Amino acid sequence: MRIPDETVEAVKQGTDITELVSSYIKLEKRGRNYVGLCPFHNEKTPSFTVSPDKQICHCFGCKKGGNVLQFYMEVENVSFADAVRKLGKPLGIEIAASEQVANDSEMQLIRIHEYLTDLYHHILMHTKEGEGALKYLEDRGFSGDIIRKEKIGIAPDMRDFTKNALSDKGFSLELAFQAGVISRNEENFSYYDRFSGRIMIPIRNHQGYIVGYTARSMDGREPKYLNTPETSIFQKRRLLYNLSDARKDIRKQDEVILMEGHLDIIKVKMTDVNNVIGLMGTALSEQHIQVLNRLASNVTLMFDGDQAGQNAQLSLGADLLEGGLNVFIISMPKGMDPDEYIEKYGPEVFRNLVKNEKRHYIHFKAEHLLEESMNNDMAFSNNLKMLTDHLKYVKDQVIRERLIQHISQLYKVDRKSIEQNVPNQAGASSMGTVARPLKQLPLRERKERYLLRALMKDRDLFLNFQDKISEEVLTAPRYYVIFKGLCAYFDKHDEFELSSFSQYIEGEYFSTAVEVEELLINEDITTEEVNDYIEDLSGIRNSEKEKQSLYQQLQEAENSNDIELQIKLAQQLNEINSRYKR
Ligand code: CTP
Ligand code: MN
Repeated sequence: MRIPDETVEAVKQGTDITELVSSYIKLEKRGRNYVGLCPFHNEKTPSFTVSPDKQICHCFGCKKGGNVLQFYMEVENVSFADAVRKLGKPLGIEIAASEQVANDSEMQLIRIHEYLTDLYHHILMHTKEGEGALKYLEDRGFSGDIIRKEKIGIAPDMRDFTKNALSDKGFSLELAFQAGVISRNEENFSYYDRFSGRIMIPIRNHQGYIVGYTARSMDGREPKYLNTPETSIFQKRRLLYNLSDARKDIRKQDEVILMEGHLDIIKVKMTDVNNVIGLMGTALSEQHIQVLNRLASNVTLMFDGDQAGQNAQLSLGADLLEGGLNVFIISMPKGMDPDEYIEKYGPEVFRNLVKNEKRHYIHFKAEHLLEESMNNDMAFSNNLKMLTDHLKYVKDQVIRERLIQHISQLYKVDRKSIEQNVPNQAGASSMGTVARPLKQLPLRERKERYLLRALMKDRDLFLNFQDKISEEVLTAPRYYVIFKGLCAYFDKHDEFELSSFSQYIEGEYFSTAVEVEELLINEDITTEEVNDYIEDLSGIRNSEKEKQSLYQQLQEAENSNDIELQIKLAQQLNEINSRYKR
C-alpha cells in the first residue's frame, strides 16, 4: 500500500523538526540552528545540527539525518510507512495499517510479549486466579489505573500454563524460549514455565515495545525478583526501565531521576513525577551513560536508604559525573525506599522532596566521607583529593564555587588550596564548537559545488542544463549522485527544498547536499554564467589554452627542424582534439 503524497506532505508540514529532535537529544542554540550530540553515533563534541528554517537535521560526523520522517525512521528504526503513521497520529492524520511487519525476528519475540502481557493482565484483573495478587498490589497502594497503564499481570502458579497458552495460540515454543518467557530442560529438551506464581511487571524497550519482565514473588519465594534472561531484545546494558514513557518529561525538565526498584518507579509515577527511570540491576554501562548524556544535563539519584543504596549512589554518581552529567542526590530516610516514603508521607510531601532536596553529588559525598576523615589523617588527605578531583567535572562556575565553599567549611581547609588543586577541565566535554569540517577543498571541487548549487536554484535553470552535465563535469562521485537526485527531484517538484530533496538521495550524500545548499550564489545567476561553469569544468576552456601553447611549441619545433619534438607535440594535439571533440 502506498501512502498518498499529500498525506506524507501533511505529516511533514505538521511536525516541527526542532521539537521532534529535542524529544530525543538535548539541543543548544547556535545562531539560526541548534546543535546536540548525535543520536546515531558516539561523539563528545556535538556535530548534530538542526535547522528550523529548512526543517532538516543532519550530522556532520556520521552523515545521518534528513527531514522529520527520515530522522524518525532512523532514530526509532521503523519503516517509512510506520514513521508517517506514528508522526501523523498526534496530528489526527490516520493511515490504515499495512500488513504487519511480523517476519522481522525481533518483532516476533515482541509479539509473544504482547500476547502474554495482555493475558497475564487479564488474569490479574478479571479472574479468581488473580484475586490474591490484585489484593496484594492494592494493599501496597497501587491503583487500578496504574496497574492498567503499566499492564501489570500475574503468571499463574502452574508449571505449564504459559507454555500451553503459547502453544494453543500457535506461537513457536522455540521462539518463546528465545524470548526468555519459558525455560527448557536441557536433558530432554522439554519446555516449562519460567515465571509462575509471580506478579509480572512488563519492561519496555526505548521504543515502547515490551521486551521482558521483572517478576515479583508474593509469598516470600526466592528470589524476590526474577527477571527475563539476556535475549536478543532484552539487553540489560542497553535498557533503561521506563525510558519510553519518561522521555518527554526528561527532555522538558532536562533532568532524569534514577531509582533502584521497578515498583518504586511505578509508585512514583502515581505522584505525577514522570521523569523517572531505572536500571536492570545496578550495573551502569557505557551505553546507559551515552543515552542519558544525549537526553539530559542532569541526573538525580534516588536510591534506597540503606547501605547498598548509598554505596550504589556513590559509585554510579562518580561514573555519571565523569561521563559529563551534573549529578544530584536525593537521600531517603534510613531504611526507606521511594515507594515506602510515598506510602508513609503521601504524594505531596514526595513531590516537595523531589523539588527541594537535591544535593550535588560532590556535596553529598563530602558529607558522607567527613566522619571517617576526621580522626584519620590519611583518609582525610585521600578523600579531600578525591573530592577535588571530582570538581574538574563541574562545568557550571557558580556550582563549582559553591561546592568549593562547602568542602572548605566541612573539612576546615582554605578554599584557595582546594581551588589550586582542581585539575584542568580535561574530561568535561564542552558544547562549544560544532565539529564542522569546512576544510579548504581543492579548487576543482569548489567549482563543482558551485555549479551544483546553481543547478539547485530553480527547475527551469536545471532543465536547461540537465543534458550537459556528465561525470566529466561533476567528477566527484558524490556530486554526480546529488545531480542524479536532482534529476528525479525536479521531475516531480517545481521548487527546490532540502527537506523534500532529502528523500531523493541516500543519507550519506545528504550532508554534502546540505553543505552545497548553504553556499551563497548570486540570486539572479544567468544562464551564461552557468554555461561558463560547465565549460570550465568540462575542460574545454583549459584544452583551448593547452592547444594554443602546443601550436606555438610546434611552430618553434618546425623552425628549428626538431623532427622528434614535432612528432611528440603533434601526438599530444591529437589526443586533446579527440578528448574534446564536441
Ligand atoms: N532485585 C533483583 N533481584 C532480587 C532482589 C532485588 O533484581 N532478588 C532488584 C529489583 O530491581 C528491585 C531492586 O533490586 O526492585 C531493589 O530491591 P529491594 O529493595 O529488595 O526491592 P524493592 O524494590 O523494595 O521491592 P519491594 O518493594 O517489592 O520489596
Ligand atoms: Mn520496596
